[in-house]
Amino acid sequence: MVEMNTTSDTIRHYHDITKHTLRRYAAAAEALDWDDQPEAFRWFDGAPKTDLPLIADRLRTLYIDLYQPGKGVPRPLTLDNIGGLLELSFGIAAWKQYGDTRWALRCNPSSGNLHAEEAYVVCNDVKGLAAGVHHYLGRDHQLEQRCRFADAALPANTLLIGISSIQWREVWKYGERAYRYCQLDTGHAIATLRYAAATVGWKVKILDQISDQQLATLLGLDRDADFSDAETEHPDVLLKISTTNETTGVALDTLLAAAAGGEWQGRANTLSQRHMYEWPIIETVSAAAEKPVTKTITAAHHDFPTPLPSPCILEATLLIRRRRSAQAFDGRSAIGSEAFYRMLDMTLPRQDTPPWDCTPWNDNVNLILFVHRVEGLQPGLYALVRNPDTFDSFKTALSREQFQWQDVDGCPPHLPLYTLVNANGRNLAATLACHQGIAGQSCFSLAMIADCDSMKKDGWQYRTLYWEAGMIGQVLYLEAEATGIQGTGIGCYFDDAVHEVLGIQDERWQDLYHFTVGKGVHDGRIQTIAPYAHLAR
Ligand SMILES: Cc1cc2nc3c(=O)[nH]c(=O)nc-3n(C[C@H](O)[C@H](O)[C@H](O)COP(=O)(O)O)c2cc1C
Repeated sequence: MVEMNTTSDTIRHYHDITKHTLRRYAAAAEALDWDDQPEAFRWFDGAPKTDLPLIADRLRTLYIDLYQPGKGVPRPLTLDNIGGLLELSFGIAAWKQYGDTRWALRCNPSSGNLHAEEAYVVCNDVKGLAAGVHHYLGRDHQLEQRCRFADAALPANTLLIGISSIQWREVWKYGERAYRYCQLDTGHAIATLRYAAATVGWKVKILDQISDQQLATLLGLDRDADFSDAETEHPDVLLKISTTNETTGVALDTLLAAAAGGEWQGRANTLSQRHMYEWPIIETVSAAAEKPVTKTITAAHHDFPTPLPSPCILEATLLIRRRRSAQAFDGRSAIGSEAFYRMLDMTLPRQDTPPWDCTPWNDNVNLILFVHRVEGLQPGLYALVRNPDTFDSFKTALSREQFQWQDVDGCPPHLPLYTLVNANGRNLAATLACHQGIAGQSCFSLAMIADCDSMKKDGWQYRTLYWEAGMIGQVLYLEAEATGIQGTGIGCYFDDAVHEVLGIQDERWQDLYHFTVGKGVHDGRIQTIAPYAHLAR
């Protein structure tokens, strides 16, 4: 048994032992017990339910206008618009059917389509919805009232969304590495929510002071009796949605008092009848990365100029629901350099541009690109230094002598993109991604390399590093769709083999996520069914 002195040692140990290597994969169930497979949806028996209107088809916001908050008139805080917000974030995007098997796809992607994340709405009285805490049941597009507040507890024109994770969903399949996937999924969910809010003209901010304990209390996740036979939920993040520019702060004390004095209802359903395998390290790392109450972070993103233009003229709703992970790429198609630069540009964190305008943290994730088929660019390895303040330490960490760090001809001057080495990296990219061909058959793939210094002092920042990576993934998913191609998140990669290729010896820089973008191959055997065709609404 390894003795751990500090929470950061515990997290570091977790991170190290959950690395996949070329010799062995991180510990997981030897065989999947399909009888154990978790139920895809959570619901609360006995909680009063409110049907939400399905309005996404009526939202005409253009995709490119999502990046210009303030351009359109914000919609009012009504049940209709809350329905639209949830439909386009945690809602079902389509059902897929192959033979007798049918499964739901959501607007937010998830490792293994397991969707650890649950969403909660905290609101004042909205016509048709009582003040309190409501759980979103995506299958039925309903809100389940968990808590009724006696009085309004939020400023006007404000709504909160709480996100939690049922870790068991990912643990069931991925064992010890699952904690990482839950965090990546949360990052995707945050960005998905930010985009959905932009379709109705609403603003989003992460409320970063709140502790996990407080969030659990607010959302009712610590009400053990309501979860007695059910898998627990871990608090992730609380986001403030505002329909106006009004910046009245949310009084957490008032909210917590409203939850403590409120009337709670409902019992969580059980997702698996039995749990064949237990992975105690998940609890250990969760405890080590628990967030305490903190001061509001005032970090500002780097001051990048206005984003490069996009020729996309499609509606946001269409793209958000059409977003799919490609299972294979055609291995032929190339994209133009302008499309490539635009996609990279949107991953740059800007203070006023979604989804980055909702995050309060420093930007810690840089990209290593494996360029395969981009017109005008030599195939090879490139670096995008998303946080230019980290340039020196990043360049030092990538210690391979062959790396040139040269500016890229024709690249927009503000884009911190550098050529490292020209080479055909297709096989390398696939091998490093657990031998998955999708990393080499695409137009480009990438590794997200994070500066992990921040988590030494604050263990909980281990999670925000993954959230940042997940958000980058979500930007790329949508940008790929806007260009007429597809993306796929890649959680399976050989961590230290990537570090070795890059010459990273310093444990400060770690690979947290991969992604691939290209022309997806459609699988004609799988049938697509409209998202809410099963509801008589
Ligand atoms: C964090 C994360 C990791 C993923 N890892 C992989 C992967 O290693 N290989 C793969 O083929 N797909 C991967 N995916 C894609 C998921 O399988 C996909 O999102 C899920 O099946 C839902 O399908 P959809 O994205 O089309 O909605 C990943 C997705 C996420 C969000």
